[in-house]
Amino acid sequence: RERKRKEGVNLLELAASFFRERLKMPEGEAARAYLDKRGLSPEVVRDFGIGFAPAQWEAMRRHLGERGISEAVQIEYGLLVHREDSGRTYDRFRDRVMFPIRDIRGRTVAFGGRVLGDAKPKYLNSPETPVFHKGRELYGLYEARQANARLDRVVIVEGYMDVVALAQFGIRNAVATLGTATTEDHLSRLFRVVDEVVFCFDGDRAGRQAADRALRTALPMMIDGRQARFLFLPEGEDPDTLVRREGADAFEDRVTCASPLSEFLFELAAQGRDLARIEERERYASQVLEAIGLLPEGMLKSLLLTELSRRTGVDQSSFESLMARHASPES
Ligand code: CTP
Ligand code: MN
Ligand code: MN
Ligand code: MN
Ligand code: MN
Repeated sequence: RERKRKEGVNLLELAASFFRERLKMPEGEAARAYLDKRGLSPEVVRDFGIGFAPAQWEAMRRHLGERGISEAVQIEYGLLVHREDSGRTYDRFRDRVMFPIRDIRGRTVAFGGRVLGDAKPKYLNSPETPVFHKGRELYGLYEARQANARLDRVVIVEGYMDVVALAQFGIRNAVATLGTATTEDHLSRLFRVVDEVVFCFDGDRAGRQAADRALRTALPMMIDGRQARFLFLPEGEDPDTLVRREGADAFEDRVTCASPLSEFLFELAAQGRDLARIEERERYASQVLEAIGLLPEGMLKSLLLTELSRRTGVDQSSFESLMARHASPES
C-alpha cells in the first residue's frame, strides 16, 4: 500500500511540474493573463504551484508515457479518462488553470482545474483515487503551514480562489474543503495542527445551510480547549471578492469578530423566531438543547446549559432531565 502511494504521488508530482512548465510556455499566455486578471502575482502562483493544462487531448498521456508510466496507472490516478462506450482514452484536464492539491506533507495528491472562461463545469477535480479522498483533504493546509512558523488558527473557506486570493493579500491561513461540506475527517485533521477553526461562509442561503451542518459536525469535537467560530460574509460576496474590495485588515477584523460557537448556537436557533411567543421559545430551547446534547461532557456543556436556562428562565435541572431522556432512546 505504501509502495502504491509512492508510485501515485511520484506520478502526480510529474504531472504537477508538467502543468507548471506549460504555464510558462507560449501556450500558457491566456492562462497567465487570466491569473493576472484575477490579481494573482507570480509569487503566489509559484507558492501554490499553479499551472496550466494545455488545450490538447493527449499532451499529458504522451508526457507521462515517455517517462514509462502506463496508461492504466494514469487512469487510476485520474489524469486520463477512459470511456468504455467509445473506447477512447484522453487527458482529463484540458485548457484549465491547474491547482495542485497537496497533502499535509506537501505531496501532490490531486488537482482542481478551472476553465479560463464561463464554460461548464467551472471546476474539474481529480476523482477519488488511492491517494485522494475528497472528504479528507484540505486545499491550502500545507501552504498555510509552510507560511506560518506557528499556525494558531485556520479559516475554512469554500474555494481554491478564496484560499489563493487571501494569500495574495497576506492572509496565509485559509484552507478550503473541495466542493464538499466540512466533514468530521476534515476537522480532526485540522484540530491535530491548530486549536481554532473559523468557518467562513458565503452570504447566501447555501452558506447558511452549510453553517448549520458545520455546527453539527463541530459540536462533538469540542474538547480540550478547541475553538470553532462562525463568520458570514455579506450577501453575494466570497472571501476572494471581499478581500479585494475591503482589503486585508477589514477581512482580518471580520475573522476576529466571528461568533464563537457558544454564541452562534443561540443565534442560529433564534433566527426567524419571535421569541416573545411561548411556542417559538419552546422550539428555540429544543433546538439549542439538541445542539448542546451533541457536545462531549465537560465544562462547555455545563456552561451552555446554564446560559440556556438564563435565556429562557427555565430551571437548569429541567433541561438536564430532558436531555437525559433524549440521550436514552429506550425511554
Ligand atoms: N466546485 C467544484 N466544482 C464546480 C464548482 C465548484 O468542485 N463545478 C468547488 C471548487 O472547489 C470551488 C468551490 O466549490 O472552488 C466553490 O465554488 P464557487 O464559489 O462556485 O467557485 P469559486 O471558488 O468562487 O471560483 P471562482 O472565484 O473562480 O469563480
Ligand atoms: Mn476498455
Ligand atoms: Mn456560494
Ligand atoms: Mn465562491
Ligand atoms: Mn469566487
